[in-house]
Amino acid sequence: MEPAIVVSGLRVVRGGREVLHGLDLDVARGCVTGLLGPSGSGKTTLMRAIVGVQIVREGRVTVLGLPAGAPALRFRVGYQTQAPSVYPDLTVRENLGYFAAVLGVGAAEVARAVATVGLAGLEGQLAARLSGGELARLSLATALLGSPALLVLDEPTVGLDPVLRRDLWDRFRELAADGVTLLVSSHVMDEADRCDDLVLLRDGVVLTTGTPSDLRARTGEQELDAAFLALVDGAGRAG
Ligand SMILES: Nc1ncnc2c1ncn2[C@@H]1O[C@H](COP(=O)(O)OP(=O)(O)OP(=O)(O)O)[C@@H](O)[C@H]1O
Ligand SMILES: [Mg+2]
Repeated sequence: MEPAIVVSGLRVVRGGREVLHGLDLDVARGCVTGLLGPSGSGKTTLMRAIVGVQIVREGRVTVLGLPAGAPALRFRVGYQTQAPSVYPDLTVRENLGYFAAVLGVGAAEVARAVATVGLAGLEGQLAARLSGGELARLSLATALLGSPALLVLDEPTVGLDPVLRRDLWDRFRELAADGVTLLVSSHVMDEADRCDDLVLLRDGVVLTTGTPSDLRARTGEQELDAAFLALVDGAGRAG
């Protein structure tokens, strides 16, 4: 089966500095792929290129068989930005209603997204009055509207407690079981363990890819954060 995402030779310049240096990557369909890497390694920039909002210097990004950012992808790709992108002066219901209207999906989709992220009961609350974790979940809910085939989630569980994180990861696994492709960036290694595939970025290139067990085998480390550090440090010494 053709990968959901194919990135080849991707070079991106931000603020006059090249931050992705000819990056190549395939992301399989119907899987949860974890995007890991130190702060500043280019995770958000790569995600922006995949959803088609990043100016690209060179290379190609193909998403669900189409060039990234193609109009036909608008309804098939959901994107949760790293900073919550909701209107503080609208309620939970109004925010989701607005994005649902933009997508042309109905109230049933709004109710489903609210339930998926566990915000039932808070529909009437202004976004400005939500806690940090609730705000992050509202932002995630906007990405879920319209049942996209690809979800690109930039650190969706930051600031969430362990119970909520577990529940959201259960939802991610259910979505993948239904055939949805998820690309999820994270700094949390117990989350990395819930991914089918991992992509480790460092300084704007893919350092390594593989399943969590591949990375354990390759480094001889049982703990994923030790494996991750071994790979990042090893590459640093080699380079
Ligand atoms: N708007 C911008 N203008 C200039 N440089 C930028 C801009 N946004 C990001 N960068 C630079 O691009 C590089 C990659 O940033 P990016 O946000 O993709 O990293 P990241 O891996 O998502 O980091 P984090 O884990 O902290 O979110 C960094 O060196 C950053 O300083
Ligand atoms: Mg980022």
